[in-house]
Amino acid sequence: MKNISIALDGPAGAGKSTIAKIIAKHKNLTYIDTGAMYRAIALKILRKGIDVNKEKSVQDILLVSNIDLEGNDIFLDGNLVTEEIRTPKVNNFVSHVAKISSVRMKMVELQRNIAANKNVIMDGRDIGTYVIPNATYKFYLTASIEERAKRRFVELRDKGFDTTLEIVKEEIKNRDKMDTEREFAPLKKAEDAIEVDTTGKYIQDVVNEILQYLK
Ligand code: DC
Repeated sequence: MKNISIALDGPAGAGKSTIAKIIAKHKNLTYIDTGAMYRAIALKILRKGIDVNKEKSVQDILLVSNIDLEGNDIFLDGNLVTEEIRTPKVNNFVSHVAKISSVRMKMVELQRNIAANKNVIMDGRDIGTYVIPNATYKFYLTASIEERAKRRFVELRDKGFDTTLEIVKEEIKNRDKMDTEREFAPLKKAEDAIEVDTTGKYIQDVVNEILQYLK
């Protein structure tokens, strides 16, 4: 029987990971958070102080890096980094790393390998357009910039980070711009993806909306 794959794309704060985790449980699918993979390599580049404009240095780092997803956790070279990849520092750096083509090629290869023999729900920016273009189902989640900023602000504030709604909104706008304008596999809705606007909706309502399409 053919594996089932669900592609869930959209900008930061649209609700992708929250929704994907619930659908994964509901439908017994493996959840793959591709953003976490880009975040892990960004964290390593930050820690090593590597200049992202030096593509050769980035390629060398990719050759000696191991990224593993286990459940909702992510390991970088065998060490748990689930929390550390979600700091404002990584938030603001990751799009610079995610636009480098050698980084994308390595991540996409890993993502396709993970998905090859499993039923998956994968969230990201290019899943329906590039990573699994023939996914069984494709969704594109959106929400207003105000709401997305508010969600991320609350998340950061609850973790104890000192920031403001205005700063978070500017940071999200910058990331949206970089993610949509990059050359290689930019963020965009796949033509055959179902668009779901999550603005002002309860999580459970969005989940129900998506479940209706999954037969
Ligand atoms: O979903 P997220 O915020 O954790 O993603 C972190 C960054 O990684 C985001 O700014 C864009 C990039 N990304 C990407 O380019 N392609 C993906 N499939 C997933 C994330």
